[in-house]
Amino acid sequence: SSPLNVAIIGMGTVGSGVAKILLNRAEQMTARAGRPIHLKRAVVRDLSRTRDINLPAGVLTDDVESVINDSTIEVVLQLVGGIDPAYDIMLRVLESGKDVITANKALLCEKGELVFQRAKELGRCICFEAAVAGGVPLIETVTQAMTANQIISIEAILNGTSNYILTEMFSHNTSYADAVRTAQEIGYAEADPAMDVDGTDAAQKLGILVQLALGVKVNLDQFLRQGIDSLSLADLQYADELGYTVKLLAVAKLLDGQLEMHAQPTLIRNDNPLAHVEDAYNKIALEGDAVGKVWLSGMGAGQMATASAVVANLIDVAVGRAAITFPRLNLWNSSQNIQILPRE
Ligand code: HSE
Repeated sequence: SSPLNVAIIGMGTVGSGVAKILLNRAEQMTARAGRPIHLKRAVVRDLSRTRDINLPAGVLTDDVESVINDSTIEVVLQLVGGIDPAYDIMLRVLESGKDVITANKALLCEKGELVFQRAKELGRCICFEAAVAGGVPLIETVTQAMTANQIISIEAILNGTSNYILTEMFSHNTSYADAVRTAQEIGYAEADPAMDVDGTDAAQKLGILVQLALGVKVNLDQFLRQGIDSLSLADLQYADELGYTVKLLAVAKLLDGQLEMHAQPTLIRNDNPLAHVEDAYNKIALEGDAVGKVWLSGMGAGQMATASAVVANLIDVAVGRAAITFPRLNLWNSSQNIQILPRE
């Protein structure tokens, strides 16, 4: 059957990982998608930069217009961070009749309402499994597997970089600065690691989850957000002496129609599974009123883990699953009467 032409915009850590899966595992991906997946273009800012993957001749380009204007390209994997120019590019990609797969949580958290509205009007999909908790199938769990429930609480480690830094500092005596640098080298951290260590990244992910789980749009300035950049090794050591571990925890709890949210370094008792999360792993406890607690965990950052979620969404689009589920998601429409408790 005819190939599904796709383009990647952004060949950073995640984009390169996606290209590796598409090129190195082409036969398997063809079987799963039901048709060959053809990586037609990969858009980069700087053509001269060396990359850890060799693309076939003619694929690499610095011209985003060559993707937007190519009507044979059906799906764009938009793997660049930040709002500007990612927001404009996403709208133009949708308007050119293509589906979008993205890992950009900043964009979804801030502009989700607008891009989803536009995608719905145009009958297009925006898939974003990779935007929250990397390779962990969290979006699918919240939007599909748990839809019979009212989700009443979310407690989660959602920033892999912060968790990696805390683990390195406490268990391996690495300095804070060295741990941040290694997190960048491994490809866990955002292009600007400030977003990881000041709690913004975890807060953005919590905002997306709350929107999905509760139908409530919460702005970042409506809840408490603090990062691990305020901690010292001594804090971690004192906590340990008392039988606790410090984790950057993102929490949302619904009680009597009122929503309490925060993302901040938290003392976790050592008998809680959330205390034993190492490296860049994420761990999430979702509580539904019917099912009770559901736990998910896995690599929340890093090249291949995040690429895993992106390619899963690409196959969702290829087999038509995305087109079935997407229009039914009531995203970024406030559908419930929930009051957000003021931040302390
Ligand atoms: N920088 C993010 C993290 C990547 O460390 O969790 C995954 O979203």
